Amino acid sequence: MTRKLLVTSALPYANGSIHLGHLVEHIQTDIFVRFQRLIGNTCYYMCADDSHGTAIMLSAQKQKQKPEDYIEAIQKEHISDFNAFYISHDHYYSTHSKENQQFSEEIYQKAKEAGAIKTKEIEQYFCEQTKLFLSDRFIKGNCPKCNEPDQYGDACEKCFHTYDATELKNPYSVYSGKKPVLKNSVHYFFDLSKFKTIIYDWVKEDHVVQAVKNKLQEWFDMGLKDWDISRDAPYFGFLIPETQDKYFYVWLDAPIGYMATTKNWCDKTKKEDFETIWKSGDFEIHHFIGKDILYFHTLFWPAMLHVGGYQLPKKVNVHGFLTVNNEKMSKSRGTFILAKEYLKHLNPEFLRYYYASKLTTGLDDLDFSCDDFTNKVNSDVLGKVVNIASRLAAIVHKYGDGQLTVIPDSAQKMLDKIRERAEKIAGHYEALEFNKAMKEVMSCADVANQFIDSTAPWAIAKTDPVQAIQVCTAGMNACRYIIIYLKPVLPQIALGIEGLLNSNSLRWQDLTGVIENSLINKYQHLASRITVEDVEKIIAT
Ligand code: MSP
Ligand code: ZN
Repeated sequence: MTRKLLVTSALPYANGSIHLGHLVEHIQTDIFVRFQRLIGNTCYYMCADDSHGTAIMLSAQKQKQKPEDYIEAIQKEHISDFNAFYISHDHYYSTHSKENQQFSEEIYQKAKEAGAIKTKEIEQYFCEQTKLFLSDRFIKGNCPKCNEPDQYGDACEKCFHTYDATELKNPYSVYSGKKPVLKNSVHYFFDLSKFKTIIYDWVKEDHVVQAVKNKLQEWFDMGLKDWDISRDAPYFGFLIPETQDKYFYVWLDAPIGYMATTKNWCDKTKKEDFETIWKSGDFEIHHFIGKDILYFHTLFWPAMLHVGGYQLPKKVNVHGFLTVNNEKMSKSRGTFILAKEYLKHLNPEFLRYYYASKLTTGLDDLDFSCDDFTNKVNSDVLGKVVNIASRLAAIVHKYGDGQLTVIPDSAQKMLDKIRERAEKIAGHYEALEFNKAMKEVMSCADVANQFIDSTAPWAIAKTDPVQAIQVCTAGMNACRYIIIYLKPVLPQIALGIEGLLNSNSLRWQDLTGVIENSLINKYQHLASRITVEDVEKIIAT
């Protein structure tokens, strides 16, 4: 039975360029999405820019631009970066949209009707130098739990503890560096405890991995606190209905952006009905996020969906953070690598393969190391996969006019060995164990290369071209299977090999067939080997 899925990556802030950290998530999501499509499932991939909040408002001001113009330019840049890495979003929208405003107001109204919205006067930090209330990201200090310095006002990046800004020790304003003062203001709150049962039940089911459940249990033990969903003017966002100067906190309308993007896409393409996707249960909803935004997606988001009358996510998949040469990405060390900088020096598919070879279903961080990257790309992508196609195509053209013949009996075992991994590999893709999937595929490539090396078609071609071409026919079929396995990871190289084999749009089900007696094309350059120096260029600049 085929499944229907709606898949999302977290919405990048429209306040800076796409970097290799964002790409961990988009590549992970895209591999999953392409795999689903490859096996014949219906799978739509939605994303957008997260365009609201104080940070974006101030960045626009700095550039002397209207926020609307500022976010539009950034969105274009983001789309172009993602395209360059073959990220196959069906739609890439913005949270600053009329659909998003409608849904945000609707969910807020329903929460209000359910008695889940309350107002409280709170004391909040205020920067006297700039006359701004300091939202969470604009106040820093020591974590109240682990005392790590320079932590934001909402959560600690070291111990992942979440807290109120007023709990920070030694607070200072990010704008002025000065100690802020406390000032009173009325805020709107979402009463999370009302949804305790819904959230608990949802977490008990199989929507998140055990490591995430453990984290959530810690939060449950501390009790579900009211969530502050309003921010004072000036703010770039949506005005809260029936107020003059209170805006929805960016994190309220951000996840609703998943729905707004779907709605805009449905209206534009007429391919699907919005309510069927988000309400009927016909579609599975899968979110991909980093571990820093777990709280929002596993506590607030299920509650908001529930109160709004929408279905809850089937999966919230959480990945760890990217480190570069085992350290946190950092501007001063030159390891805050932008997508654009990478593209100046390296093939985007190499990063897709590299991440795939390291990604698991766990929350562990993953490291970008120049040596490891160089070795994996050269030995696996070039040495094991592309090499089969380039070597064999040359022989088939030299001794057989580009015509494949039949697979010899002596090759059946080798092909069976490769084909029989299909189920295992599919299981790993589905479970987001891409590292295991890549290990299996590379061991298939080893099987194919051992067969080719031991039969040495280039040597026998001189005396027995018929046998040589048969060996090549077997080798090309091995290559065809391997590239089906790798299509989710290496879409462009796969396209090249499909072109070479005259086998367009290969699907997973094509693993049951073979190609014999068909013409193949001449090998066209697919990718080049790299040196560590090539890779280091993305860091030094
Ligand atoms: N705008 C919010 C998400 C809203 S979703 C409704 C946000 N934006 S972000 O640009 O800061 O991050 C977007 C995604 O990229 C998040 O899932 C985040 O975890 C991920 N990453 C950002 N830096 C990362 C690394 N260094 N490594 C891996 N993922 C990282 O959060
Ligand atoms: Zn801490």
